[in-house]
Amino acid sequence: MAWRQFAQSARDQGRRVGLVPTMGALHDGHLSLVRRARHNGDVVVLTSFVNPRQFSDPRDLAKYPHAPEADAALAAATGVDAFVTPTLREMWPDYPAPTLTTVSVTELGDRLEGETRPGHFDGVASVVAKLFTVTGPCRAYFGQKDYQQLVVVRRMVSDLAFDVEVVGCVTQRAVDGLALSSRNARLSAQGLTAATSLSRALHAARDSHVVASGRRTLMRDVMRSAGVDVAYADVVDVLTLQPLSDEDRGVGRALVAGVVEGVRLIDNEEIDLSVSGG
Ligand code: PAF
Repeated sequence: MAWRQFAQSARDQGRRVGLVPTMGALHDGHLSLVRRARHNGDVVVLTSFVNPRQFSDPRDLAKYPHAPEADAALAAATGVDAFVTPTLREMWPDYPAPTLTTVSVTELGDRLEGETRPGHFDGVASVVAKLFTVTGPCRAYFGQKDYQQLVVVRRMVSDLAFDVEVVGCVTQRAVDGLALSSRNARLSAQGLTAATSLSRALHAARDSHVVASGRRTLMRDVMRSAGVDVAYADVVDVLTLQPLSDEDRGVGRALVAGVVEGVRLIDNEEIDLSVSGG
């Protein structure tokens, strides 16, 4: 994998390497990670690999958008130093047979997204571990939109002592609040309108002053009334992802997931429970 040498020679010249792992179908959310890495002065390595091991539903994998030419053009235009598209054989030589070595961040990976997507975070942690190993010491940029993924990756880095500084970056949104996602491309105009209810639900929860259970109900109601098939609407501890109780005060994280026109969407927001009652 040629980017191993590329990253090493950047470090040999005294530069920091900034890794931006993606699954392609690049949008401004990804490019904001590249811009942050460039702002930090890193030599930016952008990887694009649609990792089959993190899709529990093969239909979801088959529908995942691909835009290799547009991705290469966007990567060049945003000033990426190396745009890397590893092959399936390089990443998972045994595929479709299971790999013998898997990274599993238990508990953190089993809740929320993990409940309906068994093995998803094992697939994410395993591929990210491999990307980190090949890249070597670096800063790695992840969007807060995939908040659970960010928590899982941070925990893996800490537990396995990867020489990687994980940088969590603010979610990029359309003007109507919809979090940017490669999956949005699969929605009709009507679906896109329904999808905005995820961020509206989060804002309603953020701005209300009720206890955690009340905020959960509020988020569900907002999404349901927009026709979203709600998967979850939770308020959790920022590190353990365990549900907060009505007695908890302080800062938590609200996470929502729902299905619109067969497309699973997620979003999240910081929640301050310090002024909560009722
Ligand atoms: O967030 C993503 O695009 C993927 O989960 C990642 C981190 C590139 C691993 O495949």
